[in-house]
Amino acid sequence: DAIPVITIDGPVGSGKGTIAARLAERLGWHLLDSGALYRLVALSAMDGGVAAEDEAALERLAAELDAVFRFEQGALRIFLQGREVTGAIREEAVSTLASRVASVGAVRDALEKRQRAFRQAPGLVADGRDMGTVIFPDAKLKIFLTANVQARAERRYKQLKEKGESVNLSRLFGDLEARDRRDTQRDVAPLKPAPDAVTIDSTAMSIEEVVHAVVKLAEERY
Ligand code: C5P
Repeated sequence: DAIPVITIDGPVGSGKGTIAARLAERLGWHLLDSGALYRLVALSAMDGGVAAEDEAALERLAAELDAVFRFEQGALRIFLQGREVTGAIREEAVSTLASRVASVGAVRDALEKRQRAFRQAPGLVADGRDMGTVIFPDAKLKIFLTANVQARAERRYKQLKEKGESVNLSRLFGDLEARDRRDTQRDVAPLKPAPDAVTIDSTAMSIEEVVHAVVKLAEERY
């Protein structure tokens, strides 16, 4: 049988990153944070002075990405050309550029194989926008995680505050909606639930409640 995969797709602030990491740790499976790959391409572009319009250069950066992921004790550490960028790739400027970079088809193609290579025994939890629709269409458990926009903005606000970044809630709200719009309306691999996905609305749920619900589904299917 194929190596099991659980896909978790959803919009910004739905909690998918946190849920995926908890789940991977609980199950003892590997973790793919696919958004981090787009963030790494964006950071490389910023470092190298590559413009968001230069699709050929972005494709090259994606194809040659020298990235290392280390998942230790529930936390993901990310290195770009040997330099730790775990915090740097989460900054708002990188988020915005990442969502622009992610609408370039050639960039997505260049990252496809790398994402599938994360599927290793005993299993994989993959989070992103197109994990269930494009990258792992044969996954037996696909989750589409949502929450209303107010709850998502508040979660992002708290996350950024905890990191000591100064944040403006109304600007954050605007950025979040712009990123959602780009992610759902782009031509290539738009954010949408796979036909066979289970949708979970986490607006009124704690992290632990969502993890519990997904573990239950996983036990039924694997
Ligand atoms: O999930 P995260 O916010 O880290 O992703 C950063 C950006 O990368 C998203 O706004 C989205 O545009 C893009 N992305 C994507 N496909 C994925 C994961 C992320 O297009 N599978």
